[in-house]
Amino acid sequence: MTRSSAIPALIVHGGAWSIPSDELDAHREGCRRAARAGFAVLEGGGSALDAVVEAVALLEDDPTFNAGRGAHLDACGEIVLDAGAMRGDLATAGVAAVRGVRNPVRLARAMIEARTEAVLLVGDAARDEAARLLVELCAPDHHLVERERARFLAWSGEREWKLAAPFDPAQATRFDERAASDTVGAVARDREGRFAAATSTGGAPRKPAGRVGDSPIPSAGFYAWDRLGAASTTGHGESILKVALALRAVEGLERFSTRVAAEAAIAEMFARCGGRGGLILLAPEGPPAFAHNTAHMAVAWVTPDEAGATTGREILREPGNSEPRVL
Ligand code: GLY
Repeated sequence: MTRSSAIPALIVHGGAWSIPSDELDAHREGCRRAARAGFAVLEGGGSALDAVVEAVALLEDDPTFNAGRGAHLDACGEIVLDAGAMRGDLATAGVAAVRGVRNPVRLARAMIEARTEAVLLVGDAARDEAARLLVELCAPDHHLVERERARFLAWSGEREWKLAAPFDPAQATRFDERAASDTVGAVARDREGRFAAATSTGGAPRKPAGRVGDSPIPSAGFYAWDRLGAASTTGHGESILKVALALRAVEGLERFSTRVAAEAAIAEMFARCGGRGGLILLAPEGPPAFAHNTAHMAVAWVTPDEAGATTGREILREPGNSEPRVL
């Protein structure tokens, strides 16, 4: 179901974790830039899918974030990327553990448009599909930045710090937020009242070979349905997968306001498995909302004002103390 004259809106996120203070400005500015670019697509008459893919591709190209360029290295010292996208008619595609594709979100979009039968492609098969669909390829080290090389080298000597600790379900309530988690995402509502969502990530730093989190999985990392709205998530992937966080938030819109649906989904994830993270959410009417139970979440959103001009606002949430805020 679409509406012929909906009010366009777009929100992006750049991760939910304990963002170091010297990285706050870069997160704020990167999200602001992506939100403006995505909203410009909507203003130009582009679709919600056009808008979220443009916004997420910009975030993938911004080395501030753990997606595309700037992604974490895995335990083998490789960069393997996950991304997915979904249109409000439930057309969706994801790619996981892919190497050598400049913008994995563009591959997900190309698969949607080519009506690739598989919803999820992994590894070399995903890269082959990128070549077939003429999606831009790149050398694997295109995505490598010095910050992540140093992070990998610093942690590789630490026997105490293991990826398994923050991601072990038994220890999820002690999720180590030093494990940077700059997964990026966007959701949009276009003038036709159609929705889309997209999410992209390098996953967890020093993740074991073959580990895939929530980000490329519809219902967990993202969801869009024109009847209700759209969501994109970030945070502890294993917890997000267990509660189908994006679908949960969107279905919450049947009962709650946008803000309450976002907060309820995060609260439910924490109650069920101690999971920490955040999400952005958009309903058929009203402004976007977001919720998180981490110390910070980088978000920016744009909606038109009543006079028809656009206003861009961004917020970088910081609690009054150093403890993560539990909703
Ligand atoms: N939320 C991203 C990941 O866990 O891979």
